[in-house]
Amino acid sequence: MEKKNIDWANLGFGYVKTDKRFVANFTNGAWDEGALIEDDMIVMSECAGVLQYAQTVFEGLKAYTTEKGNIVVFRPDLNAERLEQSALRLEMPVFPKDKFVDAVKQVVKANSAYVPPYGTGATLYLRPYMFGINPVIGVKPADDYQFRIFSTPVGPYFKGGAKPITIKVSDFDRAAPHGTGHIKAGLNYAMSLHAIVTAHKEGFDENMYLDPSTRTKVEETGGANFIFVTKDNKLVVPKSPSILPSITRRSLVQVAKDYLGLEVEEREVLFEEVKDFAEAGLCGTAAVISPIGKIVDHGKEFCLPSGMEQMGPTTKKLYDTLTGIQMGRIEAPKGWIEVIE
Ligand code: PLP
Ligand code: COI
Repeated sequence: MEKKNIDWANLGFGYVKTDKRFVANFTNGAWDEGALIEDDMIVMSECAGVLQYAQTVFEGLKAYTTEKGNIVVFRPDLNAERLEQSALRLEMPVFPKDKFVDAVKQVVKANSAYVPPYGTGATLYLRPYMFGINPVIGVKPADDYQFRIFSTPVGPYFKGGAKPITIKVSDFDRAAPHGTGHIKAGLNYAMSLHAIVTAHKEGFDENMYLDPSTRTKVEETGGANFIFVTKDNKLVVPKSPSILPSITRRSLVQVAKDYLGLEVEEREVLFEEVKDFAEAGLCGTAAVISPIGKIVDHGKEFCLPSGMEQMGPTTKKLYDTLTGIQMGRIEAPKGWIEVIE
């Protein structure tokens, strides 16, 4: 299919309307078949559950053009499983995994003219989401839901691409103990908006959230998990019941062990330890791996030895291996790559 006339290399992380999106409806206790449609607008009751009590969950994954010219998606089964966990926590119906993966494939295929060509640095971002759509006025779950997937071509999440970013320790919490930090609910992101606007106003790229009960442990950012590299070259990733189980982070742990032979520690990370790490980064579907150059805690600066100019060497190896797998330059572990065409 002929590609759209888009300046792929200069895309940011924004919304570009593409041709088709998938829509399925849950009514009378069952999902319909769902279909691809052209209309990007949604009409719903002024009293819809999502509008009143924020009953919405979502996912994010990407389609890539490989070196050989195929279009693939990365581990969509894990997005389906995480959406299931998110839905259950918000008392929403589960969208079946096989139907989720099939809908992802349909959306990518129908918008293949928007999948950025190999080598441009851009990808097609897919946003599956589900929300309560019937009128709800007493506080309770909706009865009817809509599941959708739209797609948009995107470039890097942070403007500088692979340039190290500066983050601050936030005074706000994004998640409560025993709350919803571990699921991908829209409400977590609403919680983070004031914090990110504040951080940006102060000149920072992102926030580092600490654990909400003791504020002594590293959690994550508003849209990505953390990775750290020790001076003796171990990968350390924070473990917490209130962070999102990032698919990128889980993949990087496997890449570190099986492809790079690194020792990996998945554990609680005290903020106190941060000053001793050699490298740090954010990881996620949108962030890929974004290196961190500096962490600021109420005026106290911690500069990572890897500096403000480039990724640290181990972060770079992780980045090159993961993106190599996604773009078909490196053989993927079984089941990681779903070929669309
Ligand atoms: N943490 C948060 C809060 C996120 O929004 C995301 C993005 O999805 C991630 C982590 C990274 O998760 P994943 O690697 O599955 O995209
Ligand atoms: C993703 O990485 O897919 C996300 O959902 C992060 C989002 C905050 C852009």
